[in-house]
Amino acid sequence: MSLIKILGVLLTFNFSVQATRHSHPLFAWETTPLDPINLARLVQDTNTSQYEHLFPCTGQKTPATPNRLSPGTCKVFPGDNDWPSPEAWDAFGKVLGGALIKTVPAAAVCYANTGLYDAQRCSQVQANFSNPYFHEDDPTSNFFPNFQGRTCLPTSDPRSSNCTHGAFPVYAVNATNVQQIQLAINFARNTNIRLVIKNTGHCYLGKSTGAGALSIWTHHLNDIRYFDDLKVDGFEQGGKALKIAPGATVRQVYEAADRNGVSVLGGICESVGYAGGYVAGGGHTPLSGLYGMAADHVLALQLVTAEGQFTTVSPKHNPDLYWALRGGGAGTFGVVTSVIIRAQPKLPVVTSTFSISTSDTVSAETFWKGMRGYFELFIPFTDAGTYSWWVLVNTNGNYVFSMSPFFAPNHTIESFNKLVKPWFDQLTELGIPFTPNTTQHDAYLPAWASTWGEDVMLNAAGGMNIAGNWLLPRRNWENRTKFEETFAVIKRHSESGRILMGYHQAPRNRANVDNAVNNAWREAVCFLILAAVIDAEPLAFTPGLIGAASREFRDEILAPFRAVAPESDGGGAYLNEAHVDDPNWREAFYGGHYERLSSIKQKWDPGHVFYATTAVGSERWEVRDGDQGIQTQNGRLCRT
Ligand SMILES: Cc1cc2nc3c(=O)[nH]c(=O)nc-3n(C[C@H](O)[C@H](O)[C@H](O)COP(=O)(O)OP(=O)(O)OC[C@H]3O[C@@H](n4cnc5c(N)ncnc54)[C@H](O)[C@@H]3O)c2cc1C
Ligand SMILES: *[C@@H]1O[C@H](CO)[C@@H](O)[C@H](O)[C@H]1NC(C)=O
Ligand SMILES: *[C@@H]1O[C@H](CO)[C@@H](O)[C@H](O)[C@H]1NC(C)=O
Ligand SMILES: *[C@@H]1O[C@H](CO)[C@@H](O)[C@H](O)[C@H]1NC(C)=O
Ligand SMILES: *[C@@H]1O[C@H](CO)[C@@H](O)[C@H](O)[C@H]1NC(C)=O
Ligand SMILES: *[C@@H]1O[C@H](CO)[C@@H](O)[C@H](O)[C@H]1NC(C)=O
Ligand SMILES: *[C@@H]1O[C@H](CO)[C@@H](O)[C@H](O)[C@H]1NC(C)=O
Ligand SMILES: *[C@@H]1O[C@H](CO)[C@@H](O)[C@H](O)[C@H]1NC(C)=O
Repeated sequence: MSLIKILGVLLTFNFSVQATRHSHPLFAWETTPLDPINLARLVQDTNTSQYEHLFPCTGQKTPATPNRLSPGTCKVFPGDNDWPSPEAWDAFGKVLGGALIKTVPAAAVCYANTGLYDAQRCSQVQANFSNPYFHEDDPTSNFFPNFQGRTCLPTSDPRSSNCTHGAFPVYAVNATNVQQIQLAINFARNTNIRLVIKNTGHCYLGKSTGAGALSIWTHHLNDIRYFDDLKVDGFEQGGKALKIAPGATVRQVYEAADRNGVSVLGGICESVGYAGGYVAGGGHTPLSGLYGMAADHVLALQLVTAEGQFTTVSPKHNPDLYWALRGGGAGTFGVVTSVIIRAQPKLPVVTSTFSISTSDTVSAETFWKGMRGYFELFIPFTDAGTYSWWVLVNTNGNYVFSMSPFFAPNHTIESFNKLVKPWFDQLTELGIPFTPNTTQHDAYLPAWASTWGEDVMLNAAGGMNIAGNWLLPRRNWENRTKFEETFAVIKRHSESGRILMGYHQAPRNRANVDNAVNNAWREAVCFLILAAVIDAEPLAFTPGLIGAASREFRDEILAPFRAVAPESDGGGAYLNEAHVDDPNWREAFYGGHYERLSSIKQKWDPGHVFYATTAVGSERWEVRDGDQGIQTQNGRLCRT
């Protein structure tokens, strides 16, 4: 046995002792972080010493780096002289234990130019393109092709165009342990190439994709562990909690919580990655009326920093990161390998699903009186801890409003009926027919599973519309004049023929915590999802069409909502579902926290190893994508 191996064994032993002494529980694959000794052994075992300078964490024999932050400097791009050689990539793949994937766009099988054309496999890609899990299972595919640059959409005509990588990262690390994540960060930093983190690929803004990048793919890190009585820093009193790795989906987390007799705060879409973008962005939830945002209940996280160090983030360890990682947005402070979140008790839930519409007997005027009856009650509805999701469609003056569902945790059918009586009585008086399916459930999981969890979110992927959102504050309801103005904006939006989707909900700061969640969430009673629809087949999209839709979104669709609830007056946007080209994103997405978040970014990632569009620090960069109509990730990443 060589000396280095003996040292390695000794030090590995020391490190694992340290890990078990740690007050925060670790997953098995979090217990052996990279250090100089195991790296030296890894390099020796894989015969990669020629490239060993590419793998260490900052401060561990890293090469002197030139100033990479001067204006105009770009991240190294494929084809550049400095791009790592095939041998360097090969060595990287070896130290990763084979986890490096040279990526191929999912729809490459639909194109002749790739040499991979296969009619049958192509038709499967087409059939699955709206299925979230299809994109989730692929190392680089993502939900919303506009941000990728639409360079490899599934097509039935293999020769009509060529498939290129566009914004799909060129390499991905299929991470199954923390060491691989550290190595990936180190390799990207030491070679100055772009780094992307992809978990499920749900991002509404294209943050989980990037041209010429190395991607860390966290999909296969999907453990969930339940603790009946966990005591960690800052939560010495102990309690029920779950430790969750990023790749675990909202559905898996709900099921794990339910099996253990608890519930947990999560979103409505089953396929979102719980501990990745969801928690980092704040995380709204049907339980927000009782407990607030999901991020408000995060007790601790494990993080790999820009320097490649694996660390605990909690009220006592790195409190600045603890503050930022709960609401300040994903993809910019480090790679989260797990989150510990407090569990909540199982409580009964009432759901109610119904719709109202115009008809021979219900005029548009009557319909809007019924709508007003609903909106007027957002304060009592949110004060009663309830939440809703609804869709309002106007087809040539025929209106349909679908409540799907009204969600009332900790309510009985009796208390629910009492709560909605003023509205339901009014609908009856107006002669608007409706048949609510009001059902009592024993717990959160069955209530969610029989509503959003049915299959409603299984067609959510592949969307080509230009979307965004706005949060409307309670103060717009408390002042009668303001309410009238607000309701008029909602009505005009729908009258223009556009779809409106939204929620009544008020997370407030029910857990009384200090974190980076947008202050607009603390005031909101209404959350609206808005979109400009592009009337063309995806394959026929052009930068012109997309640009026109993006301007329509900003100037016609969003502007009236922003005017009636500006950032300076309690309004704002949820950064996880926002419009990527919002000119006022720092204020709108971060609600008063941007400066503090910027200084935390500066401290933990001064060299900007991490970049994601509209993430903290991103104003210092641009993606040079030419004119694609909207900000895509299909171009070089350069300093502004
Ligand atoms: C159909 C649909 C429904 C939704 N419903 C809800 C809802 O009810 N409530 C709600 O709050 N949100 C909801 N969202 C928004 C969702 O929370 C965000 O899209 C979220 O960013 C998805 O995170 P992800 O990790 O699954 O996706 P990804 O696209 O893989 O990642 C999103 C961002 O997080 C970063 N990231 C991912 N993993 C990590 C990690 N381990 N460490 C650091 N950064 C990471 C990525 O780099 C990227 O910037 C919904 C989205 C969709 C598409
Ligand atoms: C290690 O790599 C070198 C070239 O880089 C090669 O000559 C040598 O045979 C390799 N050794 C082993 C054990 O693979
Ligand atoms: C896609 O859809 C087809 C059915 O059309 C199915 O057989 C296949 O397994 C699905 N999944 C993938 C990953 O292609
Ligand atoms: C695809 O690429 C080839 C090679 O660059 C080129 O000759 C051809 O014209 C391209 N096809 C289309 C449809 O753009
Ligand atoms: C990624 O790793 C997992 C776990 O080892 C493995 O099952 C899966 O096949 C890998 N995926 C790819 C695309 O390499
Ligand atoms: C649920 O309702 C009960 C009875 O009204 C109440 O005591 C309890 O505090 C409520 N729980 C929450 C989390 O609001
Ligand atoms: C009513 O809603 C419940 C729960 O959401 C559902 O299980 C049931 O099938 C619905 N009933 C009808 C008649 O639609
Ligand atoms: C109510 O809102 C109107 C319109 O925005 C505003 O002019 C007025 O000052 C507000 N009243 C109060 C008491 O805040």
